[in-house]
Amino acid sequence: MPGLGPVTPVRHPHSPFVTQCHKEGDASQFLGCPGEANSYAMRHSSSCRNYDSDRSINLSRPTHTISSDRDIRSWAAATAVHRDVSAAPRRHPIDRNELIDLTRRALKIATDKTTDMTPVERRHPAAMFTDQERFERERELVLRSPQLVGYRSELPAPGSFCTKTVMDIPVLLTRGSDGIVRAFQNVCTHRQAPVAKGCGAAERFVCPFHAWTFDNRGSFVGGPGREGFPATIAAGANLTELPAAEHSGFLWVGLRPDAGPLDIDTHLGDLGPELESWNIGNWAPVGEKVLDVPVNWKLALDTFAENYHFATVHRDTFAVFTKSNCALFDSYGQHHRLVFPMRHIGDIADQPEESWEPLNNFVVIYALFPNIVLSATVANGEVFRVYPGSKPGHSVTYHQNASPMDFSDESIRKAADDVFEYAHASVRDEDYPLAADIQRAMNSGARAEMIFGRNEPGLHHRHSVLDEALGESTGESLGV
Ligand code: FES
Ligand SMILES: [Fe+2]
Repeated sequence: MPGLGPVTPVRHPHSPFVTQCHKEGDASQFLGCPGEANSYAMRHSSSCRNYDSDRSINLSRPTHTISSDRDIRSWAAATAVHRDVSAAPRRHPIDRNELIDLTRRALKIATDKTTDMTPVERRHPAAMFTDQERFERERELVLRSPQLVGYRSELPAPGSFCTKTVMDIPVLLTRGSDGIVRAFQNVCTHRQAPVAKGCGAAERFVCPFHAWTFDNRGSFVGGPGREGFPATIAAGANLTELPAAEHSGFLWVGLRPDAGPLDIDTHLGDLGPELESWNIGNWAPVGEKVLDVPVNWKLALDTFAENYHFATVHRDTFAVFTKSNCALFDSYGQHHRLVFPMRHIGDIADQPEESWEPLNNFVVIYALFPNIVLSATVANGEVFRVYPGSKPGHSVTYHQNASPMDFSDESIRKAADDVFEYAHASVRDEDYPLAADIQRAMNSGARAEMIFGRNEPGLHHRHSVLDEALGESTGESLGV
């Protein structure tokens, strides 16, 4: 969960990240002056600069084409009409006027003390989080879906490499001398040791087991005792290449080697230009933390899909600076976007719109189908990669953050680490323990269903589009 920069010290309490930075003594610039955060985003600078509103982040319009489910479709149509949102897909990012429009919407729900709602509630079977057969089909779906695995900046130059674990599969990503990103199974073709660890720069990868060596295009280039493997080497002992792409500032892989090229343009649709416009992919990676939890993967994702729980679960953290039970919802095909207004958004109500700094007034959460969450502000670009684990009640979350700050200053780097730990701790210590309790209750079979409220549209959307992708219909609308 990212932080936004205050204008003056008076506003600092709105952001715990700023509060943390101030503990470091000199980081008032870190999450900075409002607008300057945008400058940071564009220029990778830690010094205060003038805000260039023309370079603000673009937010494209949602398509609202979310599901074949009749109830959800009618709800989507209703909300589209209500908001005067065109049903026609758009390819162009919006300009500041549309960002201002989003701010107006956020201000209105905050002022009215309301939130975007579905027409009706939904009853959802608990078995969707415990059933082995359903779980296996979901795993298959994730395995065949394009996977966002990191930031473009993790491969900053030709010769760079990084390693990932995706659905338990070890993956090596490289940027070749031609600048192209490639991905491979990080599995030696001899006896399956990982040929690379961590990240860095390397033209060659020497397997730590028997020193077979591969170049950064995955080709086997040599090793001791070749006479022991005449057939294998004659057939080519290259690493197995995976589909890979660099798109919207992020690194993507496909986990099926023979599945053909990734089409991220189609996968993201209108959301692609919007994600690109944040420039998060070029920000500096801050780190990666892993949570291995006794929680179904969708239940883990659902903790990011509403802010109804902020006032209780995050009473002393996020709820201190963002509204609870107050969110804008927009769908983009299988993906969706939530906007969480900051508590101080009402301060701009009597200010001329020309002076608004829209992105200082809300946090944006993207749910990228099927298993990725991106939390974005001008100061933090967090990625949550949530993978189904070994059974329905098990998942693994890889949490990364990226920052537009200049880390040449050690104190700024330290502050960024603190921000990341703060955000991570809220998930680790607040969201996921409660989710584990919920999983235990569902495992017990005590209650056959759970309810998604009208004020939880992100939940309706996620589970509807997943059902649609699997060709199933689960859940039931609760009309009044
Ligand atoms: S496992 Fe890699 S060289 Fe033997
Ligand atoms: Fe939460």
